[in-house]
Amino acid sequence: MPTISTRGIEMPASPIRKLAPLADAAKQRGTHVFHLNIGQPDLPTPQVAIDAIHNIDLKTLEYSPSAGYRSYREKLVGYYAKFNINLTADDIIITTGGSEAVLFSFMSCLNPGDEIIVPEPAYANYMAFAISAGAKIRTVSTTIEEGFSLPKVEKFEELINERTKGILICNPNNPTGYLYTRREMNQIRDLVKKYDLFLFSDEVYREFIYTGSPYISACHLEGIENNVVLIDSVSKRYSECGIRVGALITKNKEVRNAVMKFCQARLSPPLIGQIAAEASLDAPEEYSREMYDEYVERRKCLIDGLNRIPGVYSPIPMGAFYTMAKLPVDDSDKFCAWCLEEFDYEGQTVFMAPGSGFYTTAGAGYNEVRIAYVLNKEDLTRALFVLQKALEAYPGRTE
Ligand SMILES: Cc1ncc(COP(=O)(O)O)c(C=O)c1O
Repeated sequence: MPTISTRGIEMPASPIRKLAPLADAAKQRGTHVFHLNIGQPDLPTPQVAIDAIHNIDLKTLEYSPSAGYRSYREKLVGYYAKFNINLTADDIIITTGGSEAVLFSFMSCLNPGDEIIVPEPAYANYMAFAISAGAKIRTVSTTIEEGFSLPKVEKFEELINERTKGILICNPNNPTGYLYTRREMNQIRDLVKKYDLFLFSDEVYREFIYTGSPYISACHLEGIENNVVLIDSVSKRYSECGIRVGALITKNKEVRNAVMKFCQARLSPPLIGQIAAEASLDAPEEYSREMYDEYVERRKCLIDGLNRIPGVYSPIPMGAFYTMAKLPVDDSDKFCAWCLEEFDYEGQTVFMAPGSGFYTTAGAGYNEVRIAYVLNKEDLTRALFVLQKALEAYPGRTE
């Protein structure tokens, strides 16, 4: 039998999805599973987007241009301008989700063996996309005790060598909910400038900032315009995960030219998705406000609830819709699997993402889980109660 590639072997299973078969089996047994594991918003998509799909009157569902529809890219210029991000349509390339934007930016900017520095814990698929591109992720640690703030510049500098090609940040952050301060962003800018690195900045959660603190985009940083590659997506801001539309944005023409070759090879981003995404730009303001208010309440419900459970600690996330919580357990991989395989409380259990999958440092996050607050408050409250019961019953409890 032929053997599969080393890359295929090294590709990590998604920490968010790898326990899904256990959740399916629990459901088969009739257990209700609260999904706290995945950032799939449950809130409705803007009606204008649904209407636009209903009103499609095309005779042929054709390929769209490889960079995406011009009309959509032009309209996006106005969207970004509201955040003080000044672009032209040419700076924007439409991708198949933010996921493809990450992959194409790595494929276009990194050689096999090149390294990028990423604060951990990090969105796990970055590791998977880096492996796809043959690149290596080096991590600087942030910790739950310090609220996941960035470590000192020296920690980054310790990792910089001749193979270092870039820094990747996610702001606001998945999985921690952390929002980088102006000082931290300036610190990153200085590093990027000093060592002439790429700055890959994943800002798919910019609509979800709860603290009133300013959102500093990588595109706001002066003097590194040609170093920045912005990753974006409509999945979260319009509850449109399934339409698979994202964007890769950069002022760097050479990067865009390389990215376009990958875009041409995959022919086209989704046609129907772009129609929905373009229409979403006309969603009324109340749409975003209502969504925002709902997440503010869920965040409070979740964080208050978690910190009330004996032995559990969660910092208050400033943005996105996740938190990393510390649990009194021996091993959160085991605990999350146990919740699905062996536990239920009155026919209900919880599905959480084990923390270890968000770290590359061995042993890090062993007692942490990532929890997404994409359930309504009633379900969240019940899920927290079930989690408390699970912690009381778990044989590997540590405190
Ligand atoms: C930080 C971050 N970046 C990128 C993505 C990819 O999103 P999509 O491919 O749905 O646009 C996600 C999805 O959860 C995410 O959390």
